[in-house]
Amino acid sequence: MGLVRWGLLLGCLGCGILLGARAQFPRVCMTLDGVLNKECCPPLGPEANNICGFLDGRGQCTEVQTDTRPWSGPYVLRNQDDREQWPRKFFNRTCKCTGNFAGYNCGGCKFGWTGPDCNQKKPPVLRQNIHSLTAQEREQFLSALDLAKKTIHPDYVITTQHWLGLLGPNGTQPQIANCSVYDFFVWLHYYSVRDTLLGPGRPYKAIDFSHQGPAFVTWHRYHLLWLERELQRLIGNESFALPYWNFATGKNECDVCTDELLGAARQDDPTLISQNSRFSTWEIVCDSLDDYNRRVTLCNGTYEGLLRRNKVGRNNETLPTLKNVQDCLSLQEFDSPPFFQNSTFSFRNALEGFDKADGTLDSQVMNLHNLAHSFLNGTNALPHSAANDPVFVVLHSFTDAIFDEWLRKNNPSTDAWPQELAPIGHNRMYNMVPFFPPVTNEELFLTADQLGYNYAIDLSGQEGAFSEVPVPLKARHTRRSIEQTRFHGTFRAQQACPRNTVNLP
Ligand SMILES: *[C@@H]1O[C@H](CO)[C@@H](O)[C@H](O)[C@H]1NC(C)=O
Ligand SMILES: *[C@@H]1O[C@H](CO)[C@@H](O)[C@H](O)[C@H]1NC(C)=O
Ligand SMILES: *[C@@H]1O[C@H](CO)[C@@H](O)[C@H](O)[C@H]1NC(C)=O
Ligand SMILES: *[C@@H]1O[C@H](CO)[C@@H](O)[C@H](O)[C@H]1NC(C)=O
Ligand SMILES: *[C@@H]1O[C@H](CO)[C@@H](O)[C@H](O)[C@H]1NC(C)=O
Ligand SMILES: *[C@@H]1O[C@H](CO)[C@@H](O)[C@H](O)[C@H]1NC(C)=O
Ligand SMILES: *[C@@H]1O[C@H](CO)[C@@H](O)[C@H](O)[C@H]1NC(C)=O
Ligand SMILES: *[C@@H]1O[C@H](CO)[C@@H](O)[C@H](O)[C@H]1NC(C)=O
Repeated sequence: MGLVRWGLLLGCLGCGILLGARAQFPRVCMTLDGVLNKECCPPLGPEANNICGFLDGRGQCTEVQTDTRPWSGPYVLRNQDDREQWPRKFFNRTCKCTGNFAGYNCGGCKFGWTGPDCNQKKPPVLRQNIHSLTAQEREQFLSALDLAKKTIHPDYVITTQHWLGLLGPNGTQPQIANCSVYDFFVWLHYYSVRDTLLGPGRPYKAIDFSHQGPAFVTWHRYHLLWLERELQRLIGNESFALPYWNFATGKNECDVCTDELLGAARQDDPTLISQNSRFSTWEIVCDSLDDYNRRVTLCNGTYEGLLRRNKVGRNNETLPTLKNVQDCLSLQEFDSPPFFQNSTFSFRNALEGFDKADGTLDSQVMNLHNLAHSFLNGTNALPHSAANDPVFVVLHSFTDAIFDEWLRKNNPSTDAWPQELAPIGHNRMYNMVPFFPPVTNEELFLTADQLGYNYAIDLSGQEGAFSEVPVPLKARHTRRSIEQTRFHGTFRAQQACPRNTVNLP
């Protein structure tokens, strides 16, 4: 069954306060002893016995808890994939931080909290429409991305071999590599969607920890929060916020694909990025999935060619419309059995784009998030490589804004999230793969303001228009904005690529 699938970072040590870093593994834990003992409980600061900041009351080293409830969906193997019971195949003891402390050594604060004791609410950063940024804010965003592409991740490394080969051919050498902060973000996404490696050329493809199930919304929310925090740290501005791309324009052009923003098409080869854009030289990682499957290995972060988008040769697709967003927001149920890509009247599945926006299933339809990816064709249209394109960041920021509007409108209890029988990785208490230290889906099923950010957008759709909300968001009076005129797209059934032939992120 060819499944259509669609789909960051931080750690931080600044002036004694580490932000809560999480995902592939901390460099400090990837020693032979650390891997053999399956323990990642580093000391905080210079004192070797201040394990997990224990002496400061920040946390302690404990056994990793994982979801043990049954899952459903197409992945029917057991104990074959190293992401089962994440992250226990790699580490079974990690730091468990108390209160609002967070991070692999409890040196940081949970998202939304700040101060030496992590007990002060962080003033929320404001995610704005990319078209509304001032020239200075725009430059800040673009140069932060470029800096992230060029800076080796300070705290985390990627593993370059799977589970059984983690210590190399002679069992003594952890197989790891450094990669840049941005490439780390790409790698995390790749890792969450990669196939199970059963042997040379025998990939088991029916698995996806970040798409086709409820975790779609929380996984991408955490991924973006992490990147946002990494960028804040890199540029030294805690107020920095990722912008969003309102892709629900109904148009047949990508209005962020300009040299002023994320790069226009190059004249002599429109599948490449214009040389007037800094993104024209960005090389991609983690694209050769078939090659990794053949060689039973993982993406090792090597560059594999230039970033591509391809408007030419695309079907006559148009982007989603305002009505699509409103239809999707009118669905009251968060998700519905089987919590997969064939769930109907599921807000999550409609937003992800496997249903029509109104929640009805049409296997020929690709909508909202999936459609926006597909529209870009090229690197952004394949789940394992999509995050290489910076458009991914702003596309997901908007997707997350729709999720946030739904949360504020419906105020769901955690029971809205299935405790069991969602596909693997998607149960409420599953630790999201491959974030590290472990964090469950439930921990991110909160409104954005509780996680330290807000959107300068009002998607409630009253009177049929989106509004951008002027800062501060609290004063959410509805301002008819310039956007109004841009959101007059009429609903059209989207033309479709058959689900079983397209492999979308
Ligand atoms: C954790 O992993 C270590 C190393 O493989 C093993 O010795 C230990 O028994 C494991 N602990 C649990 C509770 O599974
Ligand atoms: C193990 O492999 C590494 C290279 O991967 C090599 O440098 C080292 O000498 C080997 N050790 C033994 C004991 O074979
Ligand atoms: C990664 O970079 C760090 C710091 O620059 C360096 O100490 C380390 O040896 C590098 N590790 C690998 C696996 O290349
Ligand atoms: C920090 O980022 C905020 C939000 O983009 C911006 O308004 C502010 O000017 C930036 N500060 C500096 C010092 O660049
Ligand atoms: C890293 O991956 C690339 C692309 O798959 C491959 O060609 C290369 O041999 C790998 N490097 C190592 C050291 O395994
Ligand atoms: C790009 O569009 C062409 C033409 O519609 C299609 O055949 C191809 O599969 C698309 N590529 C991706 C990566 O979606
Ligand atoms: C795309 O649209 C043009 C103009 O509307 C039409 O002539 C053409 O047949 C369409 N192509 C496809 C593949 O639908
Ligand atoms: C959803 O898809 C799964 C896997 O293909 C299938 O087993 C199940 O019957 C489908 N459920 C519905 C309601 O279509």
